[in-house]
Amino acid sequence: MNSNESEFLEQKICRSMAGIGKTTVCLIQGASRGIGAQYCRTLIGRENVQVIASCRKPNASQELLELKKGHPDNLLILPLDVTEEETIASAASQVEKQFGKLDLLINAAAILHPSGKGETSLKTTSAEDMLQTFETNTIGPLMVAKHFSKLLSKGEGLIGTQSSDGSQKHASVLVNMSAKVGSISDNGLGGWYSYRMSKAALNMATKNLSIEWGRGQRKTVCISLHPGTVDTDLSRPYHKNVKTLFSTEHSVNMMLEVIDSLSMSDSGKFFLYDGSVFPF
Ligand SMILES: NC(=O)c1ccc[n+]([C@@H]2O[C@H](COP(=O)([O-])OP(=O)(O)OC[C@H]3O[C@@H](n4cnc5c(N)ncnc54)[C@H](OP(=O)(O)O)[C@@H]3O)[C@@H](O)[C@H]2O)c1
Repeated sequence: MNSNESEFLEQKICRSMAGIGKTTVCLIQGASRGIGAQYCRTLIGRENVQVIASCRKPNASQELLELKKGHPDNLLILPLDVTEEETIASAASQVEKQFGKLDLLINAAAILHPSGKGETSLKTTSAEDMLQTFETNTIGPLMVAKHFSKLLSKGEGLIGTQSSDGSQKHASVLVNMSAKVGSISDNGLGGWYSYRMSKAALNMATKNLSIEWGRGQRKTVCISLHPGTVDTDLSRPYHKNVKTLFSTEHSVNMMLEVIDSLSMSDSGKFFLYDGSVFPF
């Protein structure tokens, strides 16, 4: 067995050990519908998983209320608006009291544009729309990282690492849901100023977090992840032009395969749903 194979095996072993008898606590931020709601449905089917779903209006999400009926004990729904920092702090303090740690956090909330459609040219941009998009897509997820950082550092999560003294440690994972159109090097079409810029800046936050959280004993891996073009409200105005439109279930199954196979060295990278690394 070469060193790469043995390292891979070690990571797999650590990962399965991390799961034995322990509850994996997962928070899906932006879970009222679309991809966030699907993450909740898929993760809740796993053994020993506690799902926390956060959204702006818990009583208005039919998808979460329906899921709660079938899983009253392992689904907790919390109010959180990413543009209101006090709601993030309050959700973090509730998770701390109830679980004391977090193993996986997915920042899913985003808007394409306040109008629902991206700008087609410079003349249709406005500072107000751009600020609202940045507040939701970029600043919000970073404030979520800020308030849940301590809980993530206590996570025993998904990734096994071997520290220099030989003891096993387990790192937690933060996923920032990004978008291929946030890649600067891949931008061949232009347009969508607010959304593209907000996701490019989110990718920078991912890189920064990977550096800050890669230091010290307790580590948290942070990645950006593109889900493909998925059948949700966000992409609906563009469905007729899309060659391959994924269901939320298919996209989330593929993304969870990517998340499950992460290792420490993947932190700070931008992944596509199929596990390939995409340029910033
Ligand atoms: N669908 C795609 O094809 C596609 C492609 C690339 C990337 N993505 C990314 O994947 C993620 C999920 O997108 P989606 O397609 O599932 O979108 P979606 O169906 O439009 O859902 C967006 C979610 O964000 C929530 N949200 C919006 N503003 C919020 C706020 N201020 N605070 C808390 N939650 C807020 C919405 O909650 P409310 O119900 O309260 O509005 C909703 O749950 C996004 O980050 C998106 O950029 C999607």
